[in-house]
Amino acid sequence: MDLRILAFLLPLFLPSALFVSTTAFNPDTSHYLNCGSAPDIVITTDVPSRNFTDDSPFLSGSDKHPSLSNPSVAASSSSSLYSTARVFTSSASYRFTINTHGTFVLRLHFFPFSGNGYNLSSARFGVKALQRFVLLEDFSTPISTAPTIKEYFLWVDSDELDVTFVPSSSSPLAFVNAVEVFTAPANLINNEDAQLDIAQLSRQALETVHRINVGGPRVNDSLWRTWIADDEYLINEVASLANRTDPDKITYQPNESDDVAPRTVYSTARTMNISSSLRANANFDFNVTWSFPVVAGYKYLVRTHFCDFISPAINNDISFDLYVGNLRVQEIQASNRVNFLAQAFYIDYDLEVRSSGAINISIGRDVARTTQWNANAMLNGLEIFKVNNTFGSLNGTSNLLSNSSNGVPIAAIVGTAVGGVLLVSLLIIFVMVFIRKRRRSKPLPLLPNESWSPFRETPRGNSVGRSSKSTEGTALAASLRVNLGLYIPLLDIKTATNDFDESLVVGSGGFGRVYRGVLADGTKIAVKRAMPGSKQGYPEFQTEILVLSGIRHRHLVSLIGYCDEQSERILVYEYMEKGTLRNYLYGSDKPCLSWKQRLEICIGAARGLHYLHTGYSHTIIHRDIKSTNILLDENYLAKVSDFGLSKLGPSFGETHVTTGVKGTFGYFDPEYFKTQKLTDKSDVYSFGVMLFEVLCARPVIDRSLSMEQLNLAEWALHWQRRGQLEKIIDQRLVGKINTNSLRKFGETAEKCVAEYGIDRPAFADILWNLEYALQLHVTELKREPHEDSGAVESQISVAAMRDVDSVSLNFDEANDRSRMARQGQSDLMASTVFSQLVTDEGR
Ligand SMILES: *[C@@H]1O[C@H](CO)[C@@H](O)[C@H](O)[C@H]1NC(C)=O
Ligand SMILES: *[C@@H]1O[C@H](CO)[C@@H](O)[C@H](O)[C@H]1NC(C)=O
Ligand SMILES: *[C@@H]1O[C@H](CO)[C@@H](O)[C@H](O)[C@H]1NC(C)=O
Ligand SMILES: *[C@@H]1O[C@H](CO)[C@@H](O)[C@H](O)[C@H]1NC(C)=O
Ligand SMILES: *[C@@H]1O[C@H](CO)[C@@H](O)[C@H](O)[C@H]1NC(C)=O
Ligand SMILES: *[C@@H]1O[C@H](CO)[C@@H](O)[C@H](O)[C@H]1NC(C)=O
Ligand SMILES: *[C@@H]1O[C@H](CO)[C@@H](O)[C@H](O)[C@H]1NC(C)=O
Ligand SMILES: *[C@@H]1O[C@H](CO)[C@@H](O)[C@H](O)[C@H]1NC(C)=O
Ligand SMILES: *[C@@H]1O[C@H](CO)[C@@H](O)[C@H](O)[C@H]1NC(C)=O
Ligand SMILES: *[C@@H]1O[C@H](CO)[C@@H](O)[C@H](O)[C@H]1NC(C)=O
Repeated sequence: MDLRILAFLLPLFLPSALFVSTTAFNPDTSHYLNCGSAPDIVITTDVPSRNFTDDSPFLSGSDKHPSLSNPSVAASSSSSLYSTARVFTSSASYRFTINTHGTFVLRLHFFPFSGNGYNLSSARFGVKALQRFVLLEDFSTPISTAPTIKEYFLWVDSDELDVTFVPSSSSPLAFVNAVEVFTAPANLINNEDAQLDIAQLSRQALETVHRINVGGPRVNDSLWRTWIADDEYLINEVASLANRTDPDKITYQPNESDDVAPRTVYSTARTMNISSSLRANANFDFNVTWSFPVVAGYKYLVRTHFCDFISPAINNDISFDLYVGNLRVQEIQASNRVNFLAQAFYIDYDLEVRSSGAINISIGRDVARTTQWNANAMLNGLEIFKVNNTFGSLNGTSNLLSNSSNGVPIAAIVGTAVGGVLLVSLLIIFVMVFIRKRRRSKPLPLLPNESWSPFRETPRGNSVGRSSKSTEGTALAASLRVNLGLYIPLLDIKTATNDFDESLVVGSGGFGRVYRGVLADGTKIAVKRAMPGSKQGYPEFQTEILVLSGIRHRHLVSLIGYCDEQSERILVYEYMEKGTLRNYLYGSDKPCLSWKQRLEICIGAARGLHYLHTGYSHTIIHRDIKSTNILLDENYLAKVSDFGLSKLGPSFGETHVTTGVKGTFGYFDPEYFKTQKLTDKSDVYSFGVMLFEVLCARPVIDRSLSMEQLNLAEWALHWQRRGQLEKIIDQRLVGKINTNSLRKFGETAEKCVAEYGIDRPAFADILWNLEYALQLHVTELKREPHEDSGAVESQISVAAMRDVDSVSLNFDEANDRSRMARQGQSDLMASTVFSQLVTDEGR
């Protein structure tokens, strides 16, 4: 994976991306029915045009179902579709022959009127489709001067699509003014690349409940969808600005078109109203929030549309937080997803709305990662779809589908009651998108030929390496020199460590020694000094600087600076007071960590890794996750360290990086070992092993044990699969872990060490599960002993599941940071400096 080649190739992609022409959507199968009327109607405002024809060929026994004309709507007007209606006093079905199976759009138009003794406003009826789905139950049209249009997405794998109108017994009258049935564009509804909790999303029945052109006016598109303005849903209008660009500037990704959403939607957006006084305050923090009414008791698919036309450049683009239903689900950044400014993308989320009547969507500054200058947030469009419930219904729980009318099933009553008990019970599934696209806009400088002898591929301690590709690491190293702001003169380091005083050594390993020190400004530091001829190579040195200088995160150990003078190679880190996680698990006399502390540490580490995988411009794969690489500060806050082996993950549509296998025995991914294909899921595997290590407090490979116990991952899996993981946990925790919490934890670890990477969860998912395990545990602690354990889950409020990653540090550019560190003027530093790095004694 050579970035220079990519950068060179980029311009070649540009023209094709800019001149993608959009061919008008032309459905395979389409039927547009003007119900109750023989003359065809071509709606003049339609682009492309639709020809609404007589409905009787699709309605068996149409003569039994009267047609009705609305005297007050002229047949020649633009709303001529609503000048007639088909009226049903008994059940009746429209039947459409289907040639190609797939997702179909079904639209029903209702505009009641009176005439001929029928008062359509008083009609009450149900609508079902495909004998599988209830679309409407006991429906009566709302009183409105505009027609009611219902839109559904249905998967059709039979040769016929039937739509049945069933008058209710209370007022046995049904009607419809127009029906549209047409093939949806392929992949419009699919969840293959998003990890939604709705299995087989495209096979469910969906109903469109909101379709919003954020920051723009009402527009119609080529699928005859109407996107409405967002004003009425916006909670605090002064918090946002409506921004727009020329629609012609909008491009789509090579594989996408305006079928997803038109340029008119992507060319308008809402951004944050950041006044100059707010801008001047580095810590400004507020949200732009919309609130969309929905019916509780369903899962919803939330599709967020983005198109960054406000950033100055794609490699200097805004990054922001999105909250769906009050949960922070993702840091959004265009450069992580598309190749150009003003290129459209969308992200799907699902959530279950159990008791509240609204879905709130917010965008806000990414406090963790942006400086004041590039802080902003935007949203261009939004769609919310309701997903059918387990009764196959989009509207209620009565079983309109079967003829037995025994009322509401018990399960529904129980379900509703439980739903009512929950405070705010939204279930969010974190979504991770695997395909991350990003490239650099300017070619990287070539790596100067260093005078160093490159120390290649020497196994470190019990780490293994069996690659000898000499180019590895050079792409990263290429821009090393750019980060000169991190440079610390050797003299300063010598002063800080009392000229490398032996008494200040806090660790040593294959790389060299680690000294404790204090910079002139009082900053406590850990100084990692390579001994001449040390076993850790120059590429690792470069990688570490490059990775750590580019990213800042509360759960990643901070690099304060580096030095490569006079054949010294030195890395200077924040000081992590408590040392490695492993020291607190076994093999030392450190105090025993409680289950809560252990969970918090795992969550912290998972957060750091989640950020590493998704937060930076590239996926960064750590490759050496283990308990000795998780360091703890004075408050036991976990930070991931040692990035010497980390790699830029796959980019530009690749799914993996081929590389020599590196890592540590006992932790590393067997799949990676076999295939040499590195993905972010290799880190997940190692993390899973570490989870077991944290639970069982024993080495991951313990040669003093019997063959079957030797490898912790195998041994733990053996017990986990029997549901008896508690048999091998740390003796000191026996009886001190909530059973549900342990079960959740065991399941999570088990998933992480799944044989195939594809079956392993992403860190977002792991985080969610670990937080859940933590909540199960702490909720248990607070409960009265006599309470029924079944109540635990319902006590978990959404606050508990919320992403609690309130990043307290607010870093500027790395350069500024190290300058400030040395000048001692940064209050931001204060919370991190009194911590220490201790190296892995195993190396
Ligand atoms: C509409 O479709 C019908 C039947 O498919 C056809 O006979 C008619 O000419 C069409 N009308 C227009 C205006 O295209
Ligand atoms: C039709 O029914 C609606 C509601 O049932 C009622 O408000 C309206 O007055 C009725 N219209 C006529 C013309 O009877
Ligand atoms: C969009 O289509 C609707 C009918 O579906 C029509 O009433 C409306 O005028 C159209 N709006 C625009 C902006 O074309
Ligand atoms: C933006 O916020 C300022 C106050 O901070 C307010 O005066 C202004 O009207 C807002 N702009 C919009 C478009 O709402
Ligand atoms: C967004 O629009 C406002 C006016 O509504 C304008 O002042 C502001 O500069 C625009 N922001 C960007 C980033 O284009
Ligand atoms: C879209 O991408 C998929 C695989 O990524 C490919 O199979 C398909 O042909 C592409 N479609 C178009 C229209 O380019
Ligand atoms: C933004 O909204 C989210 C979700 O409602 C909330 O958790 C967060 O505290 C809000 N941020 C601010 C600054 O209001
Ligand atoms: C949505 O936000 C509004 C305003 O902040 C708040 O009153 C309401 O409770 C929120 N609804 C949900 C479901 O969080
Ligand atoms: C939707 O209905 C189908 C039955 O037609 C059912 O199999 C499926 O589980 C339902 N979806 C959900 C999310 O409950
Ligand atoms: C059924 O649909 C009607 C009309 O769209 C809506 O008002 C009602 O809340 C829905 N009920 C349920 C349970 O989905």
